[in-house]
Formats: sequence, structure tokens, C-alpha cells
Amino acid sequence: MQDQINQYTADIEAFNPANADELEAFRIKYLGTKGLIKDLFEQFKSVGPEEKRVFGKVLNQFKQMAEAKYAELKETLDGQQTTNNGQQQDLTLPGNGFEVGSRHPLSLVQSEIVDIFKRLGFVVAEGPEIEDDWHNFSALNFPDEHPARDMQDTFFIKKNSGKDDIALRTHTSSVQVRMMENGKPPFRALMPGRVYRNEAISARAHCFFHQIEGLYIDENVSFADLKQTLYHFVQELYGEGTKVRFRPSYFPFTEPSAEMDISCTICKGAGCNMCKHSGWVEILGCGMVDPNVLENCGIDSKKYTGFAFGMGVERITNLKYVIKDLRLFSENDVRFLKQFKTEMI
Ligand code: DAH
Repeated sequence: MQDQINQYTADIEAFNPANADELEAFRIKYLGTKGLIKDLFEQFKSVGPEEKRVFGKVLNQFKQMAEAKYAELKETLDGQQTTNNGQQQDLTLPGNGFEVGSRHPLSLVQSEIVDIFKRLGFVVAEGPEIEDDWHNFSALNFPDEHPARDMQDTFFIKKNSGKDDIALRTHTSSVQVRMMENGKPPFRALMPGRVYRNEAISARAHCFFHQIEGLYIDENVSFADLKQTLYHFVQELYGEGTKVRFRPSYFPFTEPSAEMDISCTICKGAGCNMCKHSGWVEILGCGMVDPNVLENCGIDSKKYTGFAFGMGVERITNLKYVIKDLRLFSENDVRFLKQFKTEMI
């Protein structure tokens, strides 16, 4: 019996099947219900008690070895096969490709704007989305009774006396204040970020959107610098020949203030729905920083002057891609987002 076991052990150790059929034959030969191991166990029944003690252990070890060998070979062979008709996998086939994601249209346009101003020496600055009354309103020269402080426009987190109100910022102009308070002129910065307004959500309005604020403070900065900077920006973003016009306006934090229109990028001034048939579309608010704001931020308004501007990224993006419903920007529908793929490359 020992000789038989030695022989089988050597055979099993040397066994190297070429395919699943050979392995199955091996299983039947050794481990099957009528296999050799079963035979050995039959023989074992008739040996004397002394031999039983010795062979019991040997036989069990042999059986375990045969089973382990079978399991190991099976795993190796299975790994080499596809589930598809048992055919061998072609390991030279190219792998499954992963779809490359795309950048959100708002980030694309934001980076384009930031790049243009970077070339003019503007740096990028950021501020918190949860703001106090001082940075969002008071330092920016908002009179106490100004309607923008009203509950209808602002999401207040804490509202009581006015001075220690906490709100979601309604514009990125708050970052101007933080920048001026924490540094020394000259300042030349662009401040992109998300802003919040208490508005009902529709195709044309949303309770959050994105703005980019610009600030330039130095000695002798004039309105001519403001106009030339913004004119250059428009030519870079929408192409040479895009017309620009400034209309007088009012913002508490600038004096004088203006709104800037550009000739409609969709109809080139001929008249369309985008420009309400006027040929012009407004893209930003701007002005010379009010001396009160400079003083509120600890800057000598006799020595320094500057300009600021603020634009809505959604508006600028609409003029590029004609997106009719603002809600598309935040719904994350991949069918919408995928369309901007080529812009990435
Ligand atoms: N903060 C203004 C708004 O949210 C936009 C703006 C207008 C920013 C004029 C400015 C500015 O810096 O000078 O509507």
C-alpha cells in the first residue's frame, strides 16, 4: 500500500494538464467515486489494527495532497479561460477604454476669463461664501436701508441688528473688502466665486450663480484705465471688433458707476432674442471704487484710486454657448455636460 501511495504521489506531483479535459480525467482517476483514492480507502478497511494506525494518517495526507493539487490546477486553468464557450482569452486585445470626463462650461469660461486678466498682471483671490454684514454690505458703502439688504434678496443665516448679521454672500464684491483690509496697495486681483440670492428658481433666475469680481487699486488709476482694460478683455474673449458701450449706473461701492454692454455676440448687432432685438447685451457692472470704501478698508483715498468690476459667469457663458435655461448648469445631466468635451483638448 505504501508503494502504491508513493507511486501515485509522484504521478500527481508531475501531472501538468494542457486543458480542462485532462484535468477532469485526473479528477475522475484519483478523486472520483470509483477513483484510486476510494480504492485505497477500501483496502484500508481490511488492514490490521497496527497498520491502520500508521496508514490512516498517510492515507489522509495523500488524499489532501491530491485534492489541493486538483484545486490549484483548476484555478490556474479557469483563470486562462473566458466564460465564453470555454475559449482562451486573447491577451493581446486592447483593454476597455475609459471615457474621459469634460470640464463644466462654467469652469471653462471662468478659466478663460482668468487667463485673460492674468496676462494683464491680475492675481486670483478668494473669500468665504458665508459672510458678515460688514464685508458683504457695510464696508461697501450700502446705506442701512438699502433694498439689497432686504430679506427678499439675501439668505440670512443669522439676522438681528444688522451689524452682526451673517449671510450667504450676495456678490463677490465682499472679497475686495477682505483683500484691501489684509494688504497694502497696489492691488490687481480677480475674484471668482459662487454667490447666493433669495430668488425663485426658473429658466432665467437661480438662487446661486457665479461671479468674477475685478479690482485694481494704485496711484493715479483713472476711468480711462477701467475702459481700456475692459475693452481689451472683451476683444480677447469675444474676438476683435466686438463693440463696447458704457451706460451710467449706480452701485453704492463705486462712483461714478457704469454698466458695460457689448454688441450682441449671437446676431452681431442685427437683433435677436438674446439681445431683445436691441443689438446690445449687458455683461458687467463697474466703476471707480468709492473713496468711502477705500477708507473703510484702511486705504488712504487721497493717495490711491482704483476701479472695480463684477460680472456673472453664467451670463458670459450664455453669450458663448447660447444656453437657454440656467438650471442646466446645476442639474449635472451628462448629456448636457458632454457637449463641452472638445473644449478640453
Ligand atoms: N456686485 C455687483 C452685483 O452683484 C456687481 C458689481 C458692480 C461689482 C460694479 C463691482 C462693480 O465691483 O464695480 O451686481
